[in-house]
Amino acid sequence: MVAGGGILPETAVPDGATIPPMAAEPAPLLHTRVAGPGDLETLVALACRLSREAERIPAVSASFVAATTLSTRAALASPDQRIWLTESVGARPEPLATLRAELRRDPEGAPQCGFLCDVFVDERWRGRGLGAALLERAFEFLRERGATEVRLETQLGHAAAESFWESRGFHPFRTVWRRPL
Ligand SMILES: CC(C)(COP(=O)(O)OP(=O)(O)OC[C@H]1O[C@@H](n2cnc3c(N)ncnc32)[C@H](O)[C@@H]1OP(=O)(O)O)[C@@H](O)C(=O)NCCC(=O)NCCS
Repeated sequence: MVAGGGILPETAVPDGATIPPMAAEPAPLLHTRVAGPGDLETLVALACRLSREAERIPAVSASFVAATTLSTRAALASPDQRIWLTESVGARPEPLATLRAELRRDPEGAPQCGFLCDVFVDERWRGRGLGAALLERAFEFLRERGATEVRLETQLGHAAAESFWESRGFHPFRTVWRRPL
C-alpha cells in the first residue's frame, strides 16, 4: 500500500454551497503492484496522457500509439524491465500512477545503468508522495540487478518534473540538441 487515502474533489450541493468531501464518502485507498500483460491497454493510455502533457499537444499520433504498444509489450515480457501501476482500490480500480524502470547492459551483458521512463501521476494525486514511492521501488529493482547509477530524459521547461527529480538526488549531466531538416 503506497498511500492510505486522500482528499476527494469537493461535492457541489443544490443550493450552491459545498460540503467537505470526507463527510460525503470515505477517501479511496491506493494499491501499487507490478504490471503484467493484462495491463497493456491501461499502460499505453497512461503513456499517451504523459506524452500529451509533456509535449503540450491535444492528441498523440497513431504511430506513437503503435510504437508505445510495441515497447510496452516488450517491457512487460523482459526480465530487465519492470512497470509499476498504482490504482484505486475498489470494484473498478482506476489507474492513477505508473513508472517504468529498465536495467541497461553493456555489450558483454554486464549491468551498465538503470533507466527510468513513463513516470506519470494523475494530476488529482500529485504532491502526495506517489511518484517518490514508485521511485523507491524502481531503485530497489535496479540495485538488486547490479545497477550503480540511474538515468532518465526529460523535456525542457517542466519545472514541477525538474523539482521532483532534483528532490530525489538527480542532476542534469548532458543536453540533447536538435533542429528540423
Ligand atoms: C513529476 C511527477 C511524476 C511527480 O509525482 P508526485 O507524486 O506529484 O511527486 P511527489 O508527491 O512524490 O513529490 C516528491 C518530491 O518532488 C517535488 N515535487 C513534486 N511536485 C512538485 C511541484 N509541482 N513543484 C515543486 N516540487 C515538486 C517535491 O520536492 C517533493 O518532495 P517532498 O514532498 O519530499 O518535499 C508528477 O508531477 C507528474 O506525473 N507530472 C506529469 C508527468 C511528468 O512530468 N513526468 C515526468 C516526466 S520526466
